[in-house]
Amino acid sequence: DSSNFAVAIDGPAASGKSTVARRLAERLGLIMINTGAMYRAIAWATIENEVDAADSAAVLAMLDKLEVTCGVKDGTSTILIDGTDPGDALREDAVNSRVSTVAAIPEVRHLLVEKQREYLKLGSLVMEGRDIGSVVFPDTPYKIYIDASEEVRLARRSAEGLTDVVSKRDEEDSKRKTSPLVVAEGATVIDSSEMDIDEVVEAALATLRTQGMND
Ligand code: CDP
Ligand code: CDP
Repeated sequence: DSSNFAVAIDGPAASGKSTVARRLAERLGLIMINTGAMYRAIAWATIENEVDAADSAAVLAMLDKLEVTCGVKDGTSTILIDGTDPGDALREDAVNSRVSTVAAIPEVRHLLVEKQREYLKLGSLVMEGRDIGSVVFPDTPYKIYIDASEEVRLARRSAEGLTDVVSKRDEEDSKRKTSPLVVAEGATVIDSSEMDIDEVVEAALATLRTQGMND
């Protein structure tokens, strides 16, 4: 349906993208797509298949043999690798430490960006990641960049009981050649350092109205 649209939510690690995207999708009745999970699933597959994430030729050879199936369940994106849902393993340290390396491989991005764009056939979306407003849906009028200070983001992640190489991933994600993390042209930045989740959701809804959405 050509009237389907995408709301792009980008930002650094642990800024609150998934939480806010999920809440926005509920409020607006849209499908929520977590693109970080797609990159994480490929990183998980390199561990399962004992492939060196830094060896792009080996990663691509692995991908040739794997089936990556993207779907939607209960209004949220799902991903299967050869029919298996990696589940909570996607948030493990081993995945955190190599996901940015895998995500810097241009062909990996190309494959996943195509799958991300295909979701628009299913309905209107809230999609969160790093390059949604800049690369995946550059023409959407609805673009939000959720930021927060590094200190706050580290505190949010550890409050979840998770260890994570947040700063290392941010540096790699910002410095890579292909589709680095940037504030997309036309995006509105929300600095959420001093905001709770409700406040960020309200600020995001207000931004979307300014960007032309009628809800
Ligand atoms: O939840 P968190 O912000 O910590 O990370 P995520 O959104 O699950 O993304 C995990 C990693 O996937 C990022 O650090 C990036 O390396 C990569 N990623 C990307 O390159 N492009 C996207 N659109 C989404 C994620
Ligand atoms: O998806 P991303 O990695 O950007 O962040 P998230 O997983 O949505 O949020 C990381 C943690 O920060 C979660 O536990 C959220 O509940 C929390 N959070 C918060 O405390 N205040 C906010 N304004 C946004 C998120």
